[in-house]
Amino acid sequence: MRYIIARLVAAVLIVAGNAMAADMPDLAKKNGCTACHMIDKKLVGPAWMDVAKKYKGDAGAEAKLIAKVSKGGSGVWGTTSMPPLDPSGKKQDDIKQLIQFILTLAK
Ligand code: HEC
Repeated sequence: MRYIIARLVAAVLIVAGNAMAADMPDLAKKNGCTACHMIDKKLVGPAWMDVAKKYKGDAGAEAKLIAKVSKGGSGVWGTTSMPPLDPSGKKQDDIKQLIQFILTLAK
Protein backbone atom coordinates (compact mmCIF):
# COMPACT_ATOMS: atom_id res chain seq x y z
CA MET A 1 0.00 0.00 0.00
CA ARG A 2 2.78 2.39 0.94
CA TYR A 3 4.46 1.49 -2.34
CA ILE A 4 1.34 2.35 -4.33
CA ILE A 5 0.99 5.70 -2.62
CA ALA A 6 4.64 6.48 -3.30
CA ARG A 7 4.13 5.63 -6.98
CA LEU A 8 1.03 7.84 -7.16
CA VAL A 9 2.86 10.76 -5.58
CA ALA A 10 5.73 10.30 -8.02
CA ALA A 11 3.33 10.22 -10.98
CA VAL A 12 1.60 13.40 -9.85
CA LEU A 13 4.93 15.17 -9.43
CA ILE A 14 6.02 14.17 -12.92
CA VAL A 15 2.78 15.44 -14.45
CA ALA A 16 3.00 18.70 -12.49
CA GLY A 17 6.63 19.13 -13.52
CA ASN A 18 5.83 18.72 -17.20
CA ALA A 19 2.91 21.10 -17.02
CA MET A 20 5.13 23.70 -15.43
CA ALA A 21 7.78 23.28 -18.06
CA ALA A 22 5.44 24.02 -20.96
CA ASP A 23 2.86 26.35 -19.40
CA MET A 24 3.07 30.09 -19.59
CA PRO A 25 3.06 31.72 -16.14
CA ASP A 26 -0.05 33.71 -15.13
CA LEU A 27 2.01 36.87 -15.32
CA ALA A 28 2.60 36.24 -19.03
CA LYS A 29 -1.12 35.70 -19.59
CA LYS A 30 -1.99 38.83 -17.64
CA ASN A 31 0.46 40.93 -19.67
CA GLY A 32 -0.62 39.57 -23.04
CA CYS A 33 2.69 37.87 -23.89
CA THR A 34 0.83 34.65 -24.67
CA ALA A 35 -0.70 36.24 -27.78
CA CYS A 36 2.70 36.04 -29.46
CA HIS A 37 4.92 33.74 -27.43
CA MET A 38 5.02 30.15 -26.30
CA ILE A 39 7.59 28.49 -24.07
CA ASP A 40 8.89 25.95 -26.56
CA LYS A 41 7.51 26.92 -29.97
CA LYS A 42 7.79 29.93 -32.22
CA LEU A 43 4.50 31.81 -32.58
CA VAL A 44 4.56 35.45 -33.70
CA GLY A 45 7.67 35.93 -31.63
CA PRO A 46 10.46 33.47 -30.80
CA ALA A 47 10.00 30.57 -28.36
CA TRP A 48 11.08 31.76 -24.94
CA MET A 49 13.35 28.73 -24.64
CA ASP A 50 15.22 29.91 -27.73
CA VAL A 51 15.51 33.39 -26.24
CA ALA A 52 17.01 31.87 -23.08
CA LYS A 53 19.53 29.87 -25.15
CA LYS A 54 20.55 32.89 -27.19
CA TYR A 55 21.36 34.98 -24.12
CA LYS A 56 22.77 32.24 -21.95
CA GLY A 57 25.90 33.52 -20.20
CA ASP A 58 25.22 37.13 -21.27
CA ALA A 59 25.39 39.14 -18.06
CA GLY A 60 23.74 42.17 -19.63
CA ALA A 61 20.83 40.22 -21.06
CA GLU A 62 18.35 40.92 -18.27
CA ALA A 63 18.59 44.71 -18.53
CA LYS A 64 18.70 44.59 -22.33
CA LEU A 65 15.61 42.41 -22.61
CA ILE A 66 13.63 44.42 -20.04
CA ALA A 67 14.29 47.51 -22.17
CA LYS A 68 13.41 45.67 -25.38
CA VAL A 69 10.10 44.34 -24.09
CA SER A 70 9.20 47.73 -22.60
CA LYS A 71 9.97 49.74 -25.73
CA GLY A 72 9.41 47.10 -28.40
CA GLY A 73 11.56 46.51 -31.44
CA SER A 74 12.54 44.10 -34.20
CA GLY A 75 15.48 42.75 -36.13
CA VAL A 76 16.88 40.24 -33.67
CA TRP A 77 14.65 37.29 -34.60
CA GLY A 78 13.30 38.51 -37.92
CA THR A 79 11.42 41.44 -39.35
CA THR A 80 8.27 41.09 -37.25
CA SER A 81 8.36 43.61 -34.46
CA MET A 82 7.28 43.39 -30.86
CA PRO A 83 5.11 46.34 -29.85
CA PRO A 84 6.14 48.42 -26.82
CA LEU A 85 4.59 46.54 -23.90
CA ASP A 86 5.38 49.00 -21.16
CA PRO A 87 5.99 52.39 -22.77
CA SER A 88 4.90 54.24 -19.61
CA GLY A 89 7.12 52.15 -17.32
CA LYS A 90 4.25 51.20 -15.01
CA LYS A 91 4.71 47.45 -15.30
CA GLN A 92 8.47 47.21 -14.82
CA ASP A 93 8.13 44.77 -11.90
CA ASP A 94 6.07 42.38 -14.02
CA ILE A 95 8.40 42.70 -17.00
CA LYS A 96 11.47 42.10 -14.83
CA GLN A 97 9.94 38.96 -13.34
CA LEU A 98 9.01 37.69 -16.80
CA ILE A 99 12.50 38.27 -18.18
CA GLN A 100 14.05 36.52 -15.17
CA PHE A 101 11.67 33.62 -15.77
CA ILE A 102 12.52 33.49 -19.49
CA LEU A 103 16.25 33.46 -18.79
CA THR A 104 15.87 30.36 -16.59
CA LEU A 105 14.48 28.35 -19.52
CA ALA A 106 17.79 27.50 -21.20
CA LYS A 107 18.57 23.84 -20.79
C1 HEC B 1 2.29 41.36 -30.69
C2 HEC B 1 3.19 40.23 -30.48
C3 HEC B 1 4.06 40.19 -29.23
C4 HEC B 1 3.69 40.34 -27.91
C5 HEC B 1 2.29 40.65 -27.35
C6 HEC B 1 4.88 40.08 -27.12
N1 HEC B 1 5.94 39.82 -27.95
FE1 HEC B 1 7.86 39.42 -27.33
N2 HEC B 1 8.44 39.36 -29.29
C7 HEC B 1 7.60 39.52 -30.40
C8 HEC B 1 8.42 39.51 -31.60
C9 HEC B 1 7.89 39.62 -33.02
C10 HEC B 1 9.77 39.36 -31.17
C11 HEC B 1 11.03 39.34 -32.04
C12 HEC B 1 11.62 40.75 -32.09
C13 HEC B 1 12.94 40.83 -32.83
O1 HEC B 1 13.18 40.05 -33.76
O2 HEC B 1 13.76 41.70 -32.47
C14 HEC B 1 9.73 39.26 -29.71
C15 HEC B 1 10.87 39.08 -28.92
C16 HEC B 1 10.86 38.93 -27.54
C17 HEC B 1 12.03 38.70 -26.74
C18 HEC B 1 13.47 38.57 -27.25
C19 HEC B 1 13.97 39.97 -27.59
C20 HEC B 1 15.35 40.02 -28.18
O3 HEC B 1 15.80 41.15 -28.49
O4 HEC B 1 16.02 38.98 -28.36
C21 HEC B 1 11.61 38.63 -25.43
C22 HEC B 1 12.46 38.41 -24.19
C23 HEC B 1 10.17 38.84 -25.45
N3 HEC B 1 9.75 39.01 -26.74
C24 HEC B 1 9.39 38.83 -24.32
C25 HEC B 1 8.05 39.22 -24.31
C26 HEC B 1 7.28 39.42 -23.08
C27 HEC B 1 7.81 39.26 -21.67
C28 HEC B 1 6.02 39.79 -23.48
C29 HEC B 1 4.82 40.16 -22.59
C30 HEC B 1 5.05 41.24 -21.63
C31 HEC B 1 6.02 39.80 -24.95
N4 HEC B 1 7.25 39.45 -25.40
C32 HEC B 1 4.91 40.11 -25.73
C33 HEC B 1 6.23 39.65 -30.36
C34 HEC B 1 5.48 39.88 -29.23
